[in-house]
Amino acid sequence: VVEHLLPRSGHALDVACGRGEAAVWLALRGLQVWGIDVSPVAIALARELAAQAGVTDRCRFEVVDLDGGLPAGPPVDLLLCHLFRDPGLYEAMVDRLAPGGVLAVAVRSEVDGETGPFRAPAGELDVAFGHLDMLAEDEEGGRAWIVVRRPQ
Ligand SMILES: C[S@@+](CC[C@H](N)C(=O)[O-])C[C@H]1O[C@@H](n2cnc3c(N)ncnc32)[C@H](O)[C@@H]1O
Repeated sequence: VVEHLLPRSGHALDVACGRGEAAVWLALRGLQVWGIDVSPVAIALARELAAQAGVTDRCRFEVVDLDGGLPAGPPVDLLLCHLFRDPGLYEAMVDRLAPGGVLAVAVRSEVDGETGPFRAPAGELDVAFGHLDMLAEDEEGGRAWIVVRRPQ
């Protein structure tokens, strides 16, 4: 749905990348991707996936515990955070964007879903990221996602 909004060149950071499916897909599209996740098993699988796809030169995967904050790094043209929620990281995620960089975040939401500590209350992504240029957003069926761009 949002593929056309995502850059095809430059650097990407995939926060809580899991097994690397999205990171490898981004690398195949042309991005240089850094994927981070707390799970060594997931990171091993992500490295394997990148090797199978022939994009090891465009992917770097590392075990990182985001409870310690976003690791330091250069500004990125795309920051992806798919189905991992830590509102404490939102400001750092915005700060990591290069001018014109795109931020894509998807979380489980309380809207039409269950409530609980792992779900975003209604409007959370809007409050956190709505001051950037809005490219697309939706919040229904227990999911919320947003794609925004940092102004040049
Ligand atoms: C639902 S999965 C989503 C994975 C991937 N983004 C995707 O969409 O397929 C959530 C991921 O967050 C990771 N995670 C959970 N807590 C974390 C933490 N403190 N630091 C880094 N990663 C964490 C898990 O290991 C898991 O891979």
